[in-house]
Amino acid sequence: MQVLVTGGVGYIGSHTVVSLLEAGHSVIVVDNLVNSKIETLDKIKQITNKDIIFYQVDVTDESAVENIFTNHSIDGIIHFAGLKAVSESVERPLTYYYNNLVSTLVLVKVCQKYNVNRFVFSSSATVYGDNKVPFVESMNLFPTTNPYGETKAISERILIDITKANPAFSLAILRYFNPVGAHESGLIGEAPNGIPNNLMPYVTQVAKGKLNKLRVFGNDYPTTDGTGVRDFIHVTDLAEGHVAALDYLTAGTHIYNLGTGEGTSVLELIHAFEVANEIKVPYEIVERRPGDIASCYADTTKAKQELGWVAKRDIIEMCRDAWRFEKNYKE
Ligand code: NAD
Ligand code: UD1
Repeated sequence: MQVLVTGGVGYIGSHTVVSLLEAGHSVIVVDNLVNSKIETLDKIKQITNKDIIFYQVDVTDESAVENIFTNHSIDGIIHFAGLKAVSESVERPLTYYYNNLVSTLVLVKVCQKYNVNRFVFSSSATVYGDNKVPFVESMNLFPTTNPYGETKAISERILIDITKANPAFSLAILRYFNPVGAHESGLIGEAPNGIPNNLMPYVTQVAKGKLNKLRVFGNDYPTTDGTGVRDFIHVTDLAEGHVAALDYLTAGTHIYNLGTGEGTSVLELIHAFEVANEIKVPYEIVERRPGDIASCYADTTKAKQELGWVAKRDIIEMCRDAWRFEKNYKE
């Protein structure tokens, strides 16, 4: 297939481009580089020894997107492009709603005009809100706590309505749990701008000495050791989940959790990182972070049964690969 990957220079997108190329697909990447670096494309070429067509285009720009569809015959789309920083979304809701919703609307509109009927959308476990774990795709969704989460919940509803009205349209909504780790080569990985918000990049930067100490947000949750529990998933497993979804797609809406199904607490993750890499991660317990929930992990039955996909890499591999990338990474 010829696959258009929006946001393909970013963290999850770049790993998915590698998996698509390795599975024999050809790839067109569209990215405005607002949160990524062009050098990543060279790294992907180094890993795969394959070429990629690249457009530096903002996906909210309808005529620029349409131009790509006139230049190429596209079989399917994986739509990663979006802004994802939760706290920034609270400060700049208009930017988040505009970017994340308009990009999706533009893409679907152009898809319809050019008869492209396979669409894979990046959603998030955040749409479950504070539901009962494990989260199952059929659950009623609880409200999210921030504009970023809302953009995912609203996009899901828009895409489902459009799919209902267009019987030929095939939609996969993929709800990611907590993607971590990096490609085993150490060439591509997660490189957030500024001080990281998420746990694993914070841990790797503490290990590297860039940050002094990790703050563990709360140890009084109703979990095994009192710290938050999450379903960390290796980004390469996540990437492979996209290839499986794209291959499987049939008309209609298909929603899948992409997680491991295993909950790991913050303290367990720190411990796994120390064991995997033989390095200490100094930390202190501080207050809970507003908006956090106690536990979040997936029921992965549906993806296994329908896509034949399961996450294969364990927490030690996630920690080892995250650290290998951080050690190699130069700003
Ligand atoms: P990322 O920021 O690394 O990648 C997103 C890419 O999209 C970046 O390269 C950015 O430059 C590009 N982009 C943003 N807006 C654009 C626009 N209007 N036009 C063109 N390009 C644009 O983020 P990621 O972690 O790779 O996440 C990919 C997708 O998965 C996002 O939609 C995100 O919300 C979703 N997601 C991420 C996580 C996570 O923990 N990383 C969890 C759940 C869902
Ligand atoms: C966060 C977002 C979520 C988003 C996801 C992926 C919030 C409230 N949620 O999820 O919407 O989809 O990122 O981008 O921001 N932790 C620490 N110290 C740190 C960082 C995190 O103890 O410095 C803890 C958190 O309290 C949490 C766990 O580590 O228990 C995971 O946090 P994080 O990596 O930020 O992911 P989520 O909060 O699950």
